[in-house]
Amino acid sequence: MTEDPSPSPEPSYGSEASPAPETQHRRRPRYSGKYPRKFAEKYKEHDPARFQDTIAKVMASGKTPAGMHRPIMVAEVLEALAPAPGNLAADCTLGYGGHSTEILRRILPGGRLLGLDADPIELPKTEARLRAAGFGPEAFTAHRSNFAGLRNVLAAEGIDGVNLIFADLGVSSMQFDEPARGFSFKAEGPLDMRMNPGRGQPASALLRKLAPAQLAVMLEENSDEPHAAILAQALAGQDFATTTALTRAIRGALTRQSEDDREMSVRRVFQALRIAVNDEFSALETLLRSLPECLATGGRVAILTFHSGEDRRVKKAFEAGLRDGLYSEINREVIRPSPDERHANPRSSPAKLRWAIRA
Ligand SMILES: C[S@@+](CC[C@H](N)C(=O)[O-])C[C@H]1O[C@@H](n2cnc3c(N)ncnc32)[C@H](O)[C@@H]1O
Repeated sequence: MTEDPSPSPEPSYGSEASPAPETQHRRRPRYSGKYPRKFAEKYKEHDPARFQDTIAKVMASGKTPAGMHRPIMVAEVLEALAPAPGNLAADCTLGYGGHSTEILRRILPGGRLLGLDADPIELPKTEARLRAAGFGPEAFTAHRSNFAGLRNVLAAEGIDGVNLIFADLGVSSMQFDEPARGFSFKAEGPLDMRMNPGRGQPASALLRKLAPAQLAVMLEENSDEPHAAILAQALAGQDFATTTALTRAIRGALTRQSEDDREMSVRRVFQALRIAVNDEFSALETLLRSLPECLATGGRVAILTFHSGEDRRVKKAFEAGLRDGLYSEINREVIRPSPDERHANPRSSPAKLRWAIRA
């Protein structure tokens, strides 16, 4: 794995137990109830190679097993990218490596994929998984880098332009479901939300520093929050150490709204904070600007987005690129997951796919 220019220390999380020696017998942990409910205790889901039946059952129920990510709209992404043997590819958001695995299968023999991800915790695990799946360093390399630096990563590898670029925006299920990362309102954890916990400031520090007017703008711009003014008054400048403390405060500020409305606001506040903490829109805009330079002539880019702030930016950049002659073709109609996929994996529901071809 290569690192981006200014590496940061790897954090350690209390939930990661140190591995026991192979020979030592380990008792099954005790749970309250029949099945483990906490992320860290789902030992079968964390070991998909040994417990394939459990993984299949969890997925059949429409859920994502703990510690895994189910790739979204794989067939549609592959159709848009049209990978072929010998192609050079960049996956800007490697995640669990689901899309990369499918692309690698199609660009080999002779092809090569560079997988970028900002997350120093999941990236080495994914690199090891892809190596174990048989993809050697001549076919696949992992790069811990923000995708805003794609051009630099390619330059450092002596690559002028690639045939395909893919990005699947937002956070992975591994990040979202791990309470210690602080992305989810569904479980108690530190209010952190950093994709790279060694960089920048956690969401708790950001909220503490913001004035109500700044937070109101952020909630409107990042997640179209209709109760931005009320929430900004209640939350800005406050000290929320945990995800659950913030969730309680959001619900408490919206007592006149219906329960459904309150829950939607909880989701939107978490989304808006995550976008701000990780500077997601500016990273996306930088990537979109750099795409024409990073693609070889005839090269293809496909981007999966999950909310309007992302989709608007991708749509505008592709349309401008077509007008300016940088792209020869873009998709006119946005592509959505099939009803079957939405049913099988509800996390796919908000996804939108757009593609462009370099002129
Ligand atoms: C939705 S997941 C990708 C899942 C992947 N397609 C798969 O099949 O497993 C998004 C990933 O992108 C990473 N990510 C998000 N924004 C990033 C950025 N600006 N630069 C680099 N990685 C980023 C996250 O850390 C996360 O691992």
